[in-house]
Amino acid sequence: MVEAFRIKGKSSLNGEVKISGAKNAALPILIATLIEKGTYILRNVPNLMDIRTLMNLLRELGLEIEKIDEDSYRIENTGIKSTEAPYELVKKMRASFLVMGPMLAHEKKARVSLPGGCAIGARPVDYHLKGFEALGAKIDISHGYVEAEVTELVGANIIFDFPSVGATENVVMAAVKAKGKTVIENAASEPEVEDLCNFLNAMGAKIKGIGTSRLDIEGVDKLFPCEYSIIPDRIEAGTFLIASIMTEGEIKIKGVDFCHLESFIMKLQEMGVKIKQDGDFIWTESKTGDLKSIKVQTMPHPGFPTDLQAQMMSLMSAVPGIGEVKETVFENRFMHIPELNRMGANIHVDGNVAIINGGQEYSGAEVMASDLRAGASLVLAALVAEGETIVNRIYHIDRGYENLEGKLSKLGAKIERIKVEV
Ligand code: UD1
Repeated sequence: MVEAFRIKGKSSLNGEVKISGAKNAALPILIATLIEKGTYILRNVPNLMDIRTLMNLLRELGLEIEKIDEDSYRIENTGIKSTEAPYELVKKMRASFLVMGPMLAHEKKARVSLPGGCAIGARPVDYHLKGFEALGAKIDISHGYVEAEVTELVGANIIFDFPSVGATENVVMAAVKAKGKTVIENAASEPEVEDLCNFLNAMGAKIKGIGTSRLDIEGVDKLFPCEYSIIPDRIEAGTFLIASIMTEGEIKIKGVDFCHLESFIMKLQEMGVKIKQDGDFIWTESKTGDLKSIKVQTMPHPGFPTDLQAQMMSLMSAVPGIGEVKETVFENRFMHIPELNRMGANIHVDGNVAIINGGQEYSGAEVMASDLRAGASLVLAALVAEGETIVNRIYHIDRGYENLEGKLSKLGAKIERIKVEV
């Protein structure tokens, strides 16, 4: 038996929802506690499958992790017991590969399984490895593992071919304790990368240019464990904003950093959505029928986030007119389209461009989540569909949305978690 969501469509969603901590910031920050011995307190950590998977890996490497309240953890690093991240744990989650940078900084060696492909593309780690090599590490790949070793990490100038989030985070975590200065150009500037850098600076690292495409890192001998609160999840916030528009309700979304959502909000405004903001609340009274279709192209930050592409497509299918979505970050991130089409969308794919013939009525169907954000796009379509939808393979959704059915139910959605035969 596996779990699925059963969703009855056509309820309008209203009320207040609190956004959880950002998965993609919490993961590297938890990993960064490998860099220095001592006691850390991390707050606003979301309760997600990916976080639990990572905690299992970190425990395996020697950290003690204890939950101290609903969303806070105490992490004790009394020394790394193992420098090997095995395939069984890394295959469950690509972000596990980020343990390499901290282990190189702390232990001068690491053996980490190659993550392998995933539903949204090949996702290699070549930029990570080039960065480590530039810092002086010797890299050897054999038997599906990357082995890295270094006598002393030495600062270097690194220019990434593409502003990779993971590569930037991994190399920053190695560079903070390297000898001398490291400059990373064409660095990723996503808010989650910023949050990791702010955390490292709170520990005494010397990183300048945070939030820009050039990071200047002055290596230090020692860092100091600290207490830190993770930023809110901009992708969860964006998903609820789309749910509010599609269900023609009014969801007040609490705990959002407006600046993190700028390009997404600009695109909604281009469609005709009127966004309201007060403190850390955002909401809208706009409804699908008032909107017009647009063109969207995913880009590294500050461009439109690829992690909101699938959810945006669910909305665009309901908005009258011809829309277009171009995916430029990942090569295979349109797996939600056949499933949305089964629910009544009319989307054609040509290479990395999707042409959306909007203004369609969704109808409930049995569908399958192929990855985390694809799963969210199906839930959004199901919320407004005529009749009942079963979304299968919701373990993808559980990786990155905290208590999605609980939050949606509280807003008035008819959604339940059920067990289905495989
Ligand atoms: C992170 C996010 C993910 C988000 C993505 C892009 C986490 C845990 N995940 O993934 O949710 O969708 O950023 O915003 O934070 N690439 C290479 N070689 C490399 C590294 C990357 O070719 O060494 C390519 C990838 O295949 C992809 C592109 O670069 O096409 C962007 O990937 P990257 O920014 O590294 O994404 P992740 O860090 O894996």
